[in-house]
Amino acid sequence: MSQLFESLKIGNLQLDNRIIIAPMCQYSATEGTPGDWHLIHLGHLALSGASLLILEATAVSPEGRITPWDLGLYSDANEEGLARVLGAIRSNSPIRIGMQLAHAGRKASSRAPWEGGAQIRPEEPGGWKASAPSAVPHSPSEDSPLALDPDGLRTVRAAFATAARRAARLGLDGLEIHAAHGYLLHQFLSPLANRRDDAYGGSLENRMRFPLEVFEVVRDAFPADKPVWARISATDWVPGGWDIDGTVALSKALKERGCAAIHVSSGGVSPQQNIKLGPGYQVPHARRVKADVGLPTIAVGLITEPEQAESIIANSEADAVSLARAMLYDPRWPWHAAAKLGARVRAPQQYWRSQPREFKDLFESATFGAR
Ligand SMILES: Cc1cc2nc3c(=O)[nH]c(=O)nc-3n(C[C@H](O)[C@H](O)[C@H](O)COP(=O)(O)O)c2cc1C
Repeated sequence: MSQLFESLKIGNLQLDNRIIIAPMCQYSATEGTPGDWHLIHLGHLALSGASLLILEATAVSPEGRITPWDLGLYSDANEEGLARVLGAIRSNSPIRIGMQLAHAGRKASSRAPWEGGAQIRPEEPGGWKASAPSAVPHSPSEDSPLALDPDGLRTVRAAFATAARRAARLGLDGLEIHAAHGYLLHQFLSPLANRRDDAYGGSLENRMRFPLEVFEVVRDAFPADKPVWARISATDWVPGGWDIDGTVALSKALKERGCAAIHVSSGGVSPQQNIKLGPGYQVPHARRVKADVGLPTIAVGLITEPEQAESIIANSEADAVSLARAMLYDPRWPWHAAAKLGARVRAPQQYWRSQPREFKDLFESATFGAR
């Protein structure tokens, strides 16, 4: 029996299997509002057989967007656009849908990756002044962000809470707080980006304070019976940066505050990072979080093969795997994984006739007949 295809609970959220679609920015929204691209992109991923689809980094405020084309949830128009996309998906797929709430901090005001991804300086068309824990740019040649003062911190917390209330109205099944990849909350955690000398900088406890406050306001603003969890960069891959011990401490502090899971990624805060890439390269970090923290743990990063995903679950290295690039490359990855591992998967009835002859029991409930 495949353990990858066993059900899993994240808080009260029941998942059909342990395959999750990782959040993936599309840089295709207009003033934060999704359009037809999102309907097509998310619509096809929703038919994949994965159990949970996590919507891309969704900015809680316009200045918290990475690029001018990021998805947002800070206006009524954003909420209406998302309601349309989610309504279409829900009427055609049982997939559970989460959303990653995000603020880019000093990595805000960037070009899309296909335009080179560089900073758009505040004086350039489309650019704006970023804010961050400290006035330290991501890269020395870039425009420095403004250091958030107490009012600025209050505004960011309030933006997360308001977005969480909008997400609740949209009926999302769960929320992921983006505290990874060098964006605002990770910037608070990492001594490389956080040079504050107030209650939000210096000691580990102080650096964790703002991310934990944001978690608390989001947890309060979202229905108590639905899960809120966090994505964390387990390490900066830079000596003297954020590390796995901090990640375990943060995960334990999140657990005390009702966090339902930890999604373990890495890197993103410094151009100095030296990442040792390879298949499942972040899985050892997930394994450590799972063992030391005891929350459902999601592993991500170069998980591309069904047998690899199966062994991560079977060896208790993580409770679920999330896939990004492999899902774009092969949006039916979960079907193919189920076929390889002798498991069953839900597929839309309109596609049941595609079940290959050699996998007669692949699609749950599949029947077909004709006159
Ligand atoms: C197109 C694309 C967009 C991404 N956008 C996000 C994002 O919005 N939030 C996030 O936390 N990670 C984002 N990531 C990172 C992925 O979620 C994932 O952690 C990373 O790609 C490693 O997993 P993979 O090897 O399965 O692709 C993105 C990755 C890709 C390829």
